[in-house]
Amino acid sequence: MSKSFSTRNDLPTETRAEVISTLNQSLADFADLYSQVKYAHWNIKGPNFIAIHKLLDEFAESLEEAIDEIAERATSLGGLATGTLRQAAAASKLAEFPGDVYEALKVVAVLADRYAALAKSTRANIKATDELGDDVTSDYYTSWAKSLDQSLWFLEAHLN
Ligand SMILES: [Fe+2]
Repeated sequence: MSKSFSTRNDLPTETRAEVISTLNQSLADFADLYSQVKYAHWNIKGPNFIAIHKLLDEFAESLEEAIDEIAERATSLGGLATGTLRQAAAASKLAEFPGDVYEALKVVAVLADRYAALAKSTRANIKATDELGDDVTSDYYTSWAKSLDQSLWFLEAHLN
């Protein structure tokens, strides 16, 4: 079991341990997506460069907010937030950004795949944490899923 600290939080220890482990998986996935969005922001090419370049920085900002909330929810429950770049890279379940994709709409499609994958696991965690008895984390997962769904819509609107 991973490191845990004592807390006055009234959730049972086993519940907290399972939720912390779920949160640390999300921390890795969100941090990975954040780095891929910045990668795309830097390297994207094509006639709609500036609009997508700026949009991706807004996406990065909302992912950064979520990352902070995820990590701090894990520590609020007495956990250790395992969110260094190396920890995130080792644990992330997202596919790596392909090395040879720069053209704007292809980049958008690559990101849409990753947003869809992360939205799916985030949505599953709304129910999983609710069933574990942690309504507050479940509520956070709802807000993170809401933001991912909106970003996915923005991306897909370029592709339809
Ligand atoms: Fe920038």
